[in-house]
Amino acid sequence: MASENSTVDTVSTKLYTRAEVANHVESDKLWLIINNKVYDVTDFYREHPGGEEVLLEQNGKDVTEIFEDIGHSSDARQMMESYKIGEIVKSERTKGNASVLNGISEEENTSGSWRSWLIPIALGVLATFVYRYFIKAH
Ligand code: HEM
Repeated sequence: MASENSTVDTVSTKLYTRAEVANHVESDKLWLIINNKVYDVTDFYREHPGGEEVLLEQNGKDVTEIFEDIGHSSDARQMMESYKIGEIVKSERTKGNASVLNGISEEENTSGSWRSWLIPIALGVLATFVYRYFIKAH
């Protein structure tokens, strides 16, 4: 992945474990994990267009899935860059995207795409039989 920039990683990026981020809830800071990056949104959450409550509820958690589900704009993504304080340690990173957090491996996810064709195909075959044997026969 192009974002795996080793110079940034080793020189300036602070690394956190997921437990460190979760334990931070006890301080008066609001930290979130999105796509393996750690954000301190303490100075932002009150201005969040989606409301402050939603962010407060998620303090210390990995919100990648929910953040992506909402379909935040590129403006929002640009905005969050200024709140980035570090990244998750390499050993605890999730691969790729939110599907990993759902407990669905990427493999299952892609095979699901051909499986989703099976039902329409089966219905098509069934319709052909119904037509040939029940409708056309009369
Ligand atoms: C650093 C993290 C975040 C930033 C910078 C951010 C920023 C924004 C911005 C700029 C908007 C306005 C719409 C847009 O431009 O997409 C927005 C909307 C919203 N955000 Fe966030 N957001 C963040 C995290 C989250 C999280 C973690 C949640 C959920 C727990 C959330 C829930 C929402 C909701 C529900 C809306 C309203 C969507 C709508 O009205 O259609 N946001 N956010």
